[in-house]
Amino acid sequence: MATTESLFQHPDRNLALELVRATEAAAIRAVPFIGKGDKNGADGAAVDAMRKFLGTVDFDGVVVIGEGEKDNAPMLYNGEHVGTGDGPSCDIAVDPIDGTSLTAAGRQNAISMIAVADRGTMLDASSVFYMQKLVAGAEGIGVLDIRESIGDNIREFAKAKGKPVDEIVVAVLDRPRHEELIEEIRATGAGTRLMLDGDVAGGINAALYGTRIDMCVGTGGSPEGVATACAIKALGGFIQTMLAPKTELEREKGLAAGLKFDHVYTADELVTSDNTFFVATGVTDGGLVNGVKRLGPIIRTESIVLRSHSGTIRRVHADHLAEKWLD
Ligand code: FBP
Repeated sequence: MATTESLFQHPDRNLALELVRATEAAAIRAVPFIGKGDKNGADGAAVDAMRKFLGTVDFDGVVVIGEGEKDNAPMLYNGEHVGTGDGPSCDIAVDPIDGTSLTAAGRQNAISMIAVADRGTMLDASSVFYMQKLVAGAEGIGVLDIRESIGDNIREFAKAKGKPVDEIVVAVLDRPRHEELIEEIRATGAGTRLMLDGDVAGGINAALYGTRIDMCVGTGGSPEGVATACAIKALGGFIQTMLAPKTELEREKGLAAGLKFDHVYTADELVTSDNTFFVATGVTDGGLVNGVKRLGPIIRTESIVLRSHSGTIRRVHADHLAEKWLD
């Protein structure tokens, strides 16, 4: 970790401040699809915009977490090179829209996001779709353990945070698979925030100070888990995950890809580099960032930009002249 003095003497480039243009563009292009019931249309427009802007940034990125395999996804597929090719060699995780169904339905909490780390340092967990996740702020370090019961974790975490258990708020994806988990959380006296989708934003909200969420738990997408880890490393928070294969075939594919089962993946295993960047722009309004807003001739966006090296959390508010975004 760089000291304040060294950062002061040798300020270097914050790649995420350039990448934020790509998530802004993806969010803006998704707007015509909000509430129109066309999730593929929304995703396609966001992918297209993100890819164009990524192409202008000086870095040599390889998509480790993208929109799937080459044959199924014409753009931003796993293994695709992005950026101008000049500059740092990086792994990149993209989700042009995390919350495509939210966008199509006109619901809150959809974001566009990019996570970046040094080349070869992001776990490629694409062969196993789901992972179990436990995410919190720094108070969770040395306190939380994904192998322990959720009840014990909540009680220990409340002590570490200096809060009564009934003031702890736990975000969980609202899925039938989480029925028991939700009951166990509520049995401790803690409250739940049930998310329709979007556990990347849920995890980041758990690790940020001043939000209404203390922990984010449950099973969600593995790619989203690795992207969340990049943000958590930048925030100095806590994340543990365990792969959750749905079928024996998935488990076999995972083993063949070198993944470990019944193993707790820490932040440092999900992304081994300490040099991570994370950027997200709101598509629709949410607890992490506000969505794109049209104000007469202006399109307003809100983004969050995180960087582990400097430990900065920036909120980027941008006004874009709408006439520049006419097709
Ligand atoms: P997409 O919008 O990219 O499809 O992902 C939404 C999401 O809610 C993720 O945030 C989450 O990790 C995953 O889907 C959960 O999967 P499922 O909807 O199958 O429970």
